[in-house]
Amino acid sequence: MKSIVLFRGSFDPVNIGHMMMALSALNLLKAERVIFIPSCNSIDKLDGLERIKMLKLAFRDFNVDKSKFMISPVEIKKEIHEPLDTIRYFKKKYSEMKLLYLLGQDEISSLSSFKGIEDMKKLVNFIYVSRTGYEANEELIKKYQMKKLDIMNMDIHSKEIRSGYHLYTSRSVIDYIADHQLYFCARLFSMMKPKRYYHSVSVAKTAYEIAIRSKCSLDPLECYQAGLFHDCGKNIPLEEQEALTHEFYSQYEPVEPFALHQFASCVIAKRDFGIDNEEVLSSICYHCTGRRNMSDMEKLIYAADKVEPTREFETKKSRLACYKNLEKGFITTLKEQEKFFLAHHIAYKEHFLSKEMYEQYLGE
Ligand SMILES: [Fe+2]
Ligand SMILES: [Fe+2]
Repeated sequence: MKSIVLFRGSFDPVNIGHMMMALSALNLLKAERVIFIPSCNSIDKLDGLERIKMLKLAFRDFNVDKSKFMISPVEIKKEIHEPLDTIRYFKKKYSEMKLLYLLGQDEISSLSSFKGIEDMKKLVNFIYVSRTGYEANEELIKKYQMKKLDIMNMDIHSKEIRSGYHLYTSRSVIDYIADHQLYFCARLFSMMKPKRYYHSVSVAKTAYEIAIRSKCSLDPLECYQAGLFHDCGKNIPLEEQEALTHEFYSQYEPVEPFALHQFASCVIAKRDFGIDNEEVLSSICYHCTGRRNMSDMEKLIYAADKVEPTREFETKKSRLACYKNLEKGFITTLKEQEKFFLAHHIAYKEHFLSKEMYEQYLGE
């Protein structure tokens, strides 16, 4: 008997873990297809159609076989809240097929509270995947004859994408979130002037492209995240930027007003958005002044900030150099920047961090 996998969830937004679960279920269970069924409830009150759009983008990025992956808007359109109603709908539609109900280990305990669970048991076979931090409820697994799908536990949660803690979803989904100011981006947008926000999105996209095209070893999604947050403290009052710098980075004082925001942004990303990736944080922290012995991500964000395409000055030469090779592109960016500063009589080595960076990388 042929089988179909029913994959209900809020997909708020779809993440890499969802995609891996679905691909594994399709292959390991030799199913005909997987049907993603977004629930009508979204934790962030995000419109169901937005979540469907993001699912479609993820399908495109993952290059999935369209005949094997489907999205059903049935719960959203018919405002179905109970899984039993959904299962009955599909049982009617695919009466000749075996229905496999895919869920995460974290959902097992709530299974017994589902309305009509005994009827569900007669209509579907439950398949679960393990999740870190959740005990397997052996009693329920036995009672509902659940079968474990043996796949690598990716431990990815959509709520961490919603908060900006990490961005483990597909590139197009993250672009959609950034371009439409969804989830944490709504908060970022409210903290910045629009022009600053759009610059940040452009830095994020450029950073991702540099990471991919230069074939450096950095995680492109972490580079995207650093780009999005690098200026998050730029538009808070200068006194606040000064206070944060004084509290957390007094070793760098005095700091020129234009550079204060690199420290403020780092504090805000950590304190208000919970970002704890030290590589990401330090690339935010030194994106303006640079410093001696910069890490690869520090160089990448420093350069992406200067070469992103919406800048009002010429950036193409340096941007292309970064795409080719991160190290060489970073040096090209510094040289081009120095030329610009000299031509416009701008003091650019005032702060000792900048002075040390130019000395080390341009041999001055
Ligand atoms: Fe900045
Ligand atoms: Fe910037």
